[in-house]
Amino acid sequence: MATEANNSLQSICYKRGSLQLLDQRKLPLETIYLNIQDSTDAWHAIKDMVVRGAPAIAIAAALSLAVEVFNLENFDGTSDDAVSYLTMKLEYLVSSRPTAVNLSDAATKLKEVISKAVATASDGRSVFQAYIQAAEIMLEDDVASNKAIGSYGAGFLHSQLNNFKKLSVLTHCNTGSLATAGYGTALGVIRALHTEGVLERAYCTETRPFNQGSRLTAFELVHDNIPATLIADSAAAALMKDGRVNAVVVGADRVAANGDTANKIGTYSLAIIAKHHNIPFLVAAPLTSIDLSLSSGKEIVIEERSPKELLNTRGGLGEQVAAKGVSVWNPAFDVTPAALVSGIITEKGVITKKGNDDFDIKDFVKKGAKQCCS
Ligand code: MRU
Repeated sequence: MATEANNSLQSICYKRGSLQLLDQRKLPLETIYLNIQDSTDAWHAIKDMVVRGAPAIAIAAALSLAVEVFNLENFDGTSDDAVSYLTMKLEYLVSSRPTAVNLSDAATKLKEVISKAVATASDGRSVFQAYIQAAEIMLEDDVASNKAIGSYGAGFLHSQLNNFKKLSVLTHCNTGSLATAGYGTALGVIRALHTEGVLERAYCTETRPFNQGSRLTAFELVHDNIPATLIADSAAAALMKDGRVNAVVVGADRVAANGDTANKIGTYSLAIIAKHHNIPFLVAAPLTSIDLSLSSGKEIVIEERSPKELLNTRGGLGEQVAAKGVSVWNPAFDVTPAALVSGIITEKGVITKKGNDDFDIKDFVKKGAKQCCS
């Protein structure tokens, strides 16, 4: 399967043996694709934010290794050699960014594929072939799952807020085509509401310090002609107080088994403000963002990024504007407690709370069926 660099909003352009990533650091001013030849290129592209967003990171990493082994002309190892090679590279890729679980989830699934393949493989190349096919399927599956999230999310919001003819939704960071293989998660819900003619307006935060909202989400919303307004992160409380928001919908980097959700720094503040104003706060995420091995958000490792993101303009890429010598704390994510989350929109349906105010995510994942409205 192949994706082509014919749409400026496509962050991952892949065809067998070649991968290009849209350099998101340059958006919206420049549209530049970087060639990714191997897992080392991808590790740096992920660490340096060329590609970002939990699902996009996972897929870009998986495909970079597919490209690397496809082009490994001199490899004549056994199937066990191929498994060791792929396993080592997958572990290396997982070390690029720690908070988003999608990358380690993809690595675990790909390791399962190659250990199954080795049972029937005649040589190392057949293991590589099985790996390549599995990585390509991840690319295809992500778009389908995002469309399902969009549709479930729009249906849920519609049914919950049925006194309103049209809804305005506030979102944070970038969860759109750029953060995924296409369409997006929280932004996918906004896209679906717009397609169904029930979106009044999307509000997007700037998302300091890296400005994923003002640079990327605003770009996607304008590109799709979706009525949209950009706000400073600090304007969210005033916006909600003014009654201009019917729901807040955000993405996730890792959801613990109890529903605690790690997402872009500032998400927790939005959830508190939404609670104060009695506004539904929803997390939109594929099942690959759910980490059932963690009982709560306390166990989620939060990535801290360079002080330069705060000290300098353009998320650290421009000149220094903050006072020289000041110390900086720059966590990339925060954890929103499940108590503040009204529902989790997945590709299998919306997870809502049972009577005791707890999510039963394990049960939902086990059943693999929708628990709530379509
Ligand atoms: O640091 P980033 O830009 O990778 O952070 C991205 C987010 O926090 C997104 O909300 C999350 O990954 C979900 S993307 C569908």
